[in-house]
Amino acid sequence: MPKILNYGRQSVDDRDISAVADALETDYLTTGPRVEAFEAMLCEITGAEHCIACANGTAALHLACLALNVGKGDVGLTSPISFLASANCIEYCGGRADFIDIDPGTLCLCPQQLDLYCRENKPPKVVIPVDFAGLGADLAAIAELSKKHGFSLVEDAAHALGSFYQAEGERYACGSCTHTDLAVFSFHPVKTITTGEGGAVMTNDRSLAERVRCLRNHGMVRHDALLQQHGGWAYEMSSLGFNYRITDIQCALGVSQLSRLDRFTNRRRQIVSMYNHAFSKHDNLVLPHQDLALNACPHLYPIRLKDGAAKRRQVYERLKADNIFCQVHYIPIYFQPYYADKYGYAKGRCPQAERYYSQALSLPLFPAMSDRDALRVIERFQFALGSASSHRKM
Ligand SMILES: Cc1ncc(COP(=O)(O)O)c(C=O)c1O
Repeated sequence: MPKILNYGRQSVDDRDISAVADALETDYLTTGPRVEAFEAMLCEITGAEHCIACANGTAALHLACLALNVGKGDVGLTSPISFLASANCIEYCGGRADFIDIDPGTLCLCPQQLDLYCRENKPPKVVIPVDFAGLGADLAAIAELSKKHGFSLVEDAAHALGSFYQAEGERYACGSCTHTDLAVFSFHPVKTITTGEGGAVMTNDRSLAERVRCLRNHGMVRHDALLQQHGGWAYEMSSLGFNYRITDIQCALGVSQLSRLDRFTNRRRQIVSMYNHAFSKHDNLVLPHQDLALNACPHLYPIRLKDGAAKRRQVYERLKADNIFCQVHYIPIYFQPYYADKYGYAKGRCPQAERYYSQALSLPLFPAMSDRDALRVIERFQFALGSASSHRKM
């Protein structure tokens, strides 16, 4: 059988394995020096002042919303073309998640639609734009709207470690928080680098950073005055936090992986160039908008089949039979029964997102792919496209 190619996969090498083995021999298994080193590297890479590494990207989003005091009665807006967690974090806090349609070119949250929502409704408490597939959202435009309408801003940069966005001719690192209150990363194995499970919250605001750090560890503080007053064992909890800590073992892997971030980025960009070159000849395909000139780090390759859903299903199944496991990123979040049943969100709510969803298919993209793997995907995808009928529903 041909080698299995998934839409994404981690790249773990001997250096990663020995970094983890070394960590296991130290005194620290949970929060220790490797967590701090990992956080410092993420600050260095993004330029953000503070980093709080945590259990996963979902926990990072939850912590960000908690730090901004999202609560009962608040509305939070995000893109429907994202993973569930981008919306669920608002619901965890007792708020209501709602959705703003995407820009059909970038596939990120559309600033014009956001402005329209804010003019027609009570402005939201928080907006969570997603750097979809590694392409930075239009954060400068959304930041302008946050000033105009008075909402807080969290960048969901789960797809965008090592990536950049442009604003007024300048280049900014995703996760730098230049235009946002907070940003989050995920280190799930399909992401740019992995810690197994893992995530991080970034910010340039010291008090938000302190709040996130405290909420990551049960909402507990142990400051000097407290220790002097009660003794070295003292701790105090004033707000309800969580155990969202990441371990030193995971961060040993994270530090080792981060040292190869440039290599991972370059390889992803090379594979995207191969795909773009091969597929740009096809009139019935829409290629993803990957800003290679910006040195961005592409996370997914969501190609669109203009012929639509019936054909997409056949192509997906045919590639699967060839051991090429694509995915669709994503089913619009408000299609999920939880959201549809709770709020009556119906089909037609975000037409651009729904149209994109009916056509999209993410082809394999990860740094460990060889040129041969990429050529195999190109050849099998073209074959599957040629043999699929646009009329037959499967
Ligand atoms: C856009 C986006 N946000 C948030 C998350 C949640 O990250 P995690 O899986 O680390 O909890 C993911 C993960 O798939 C994601 O793709």
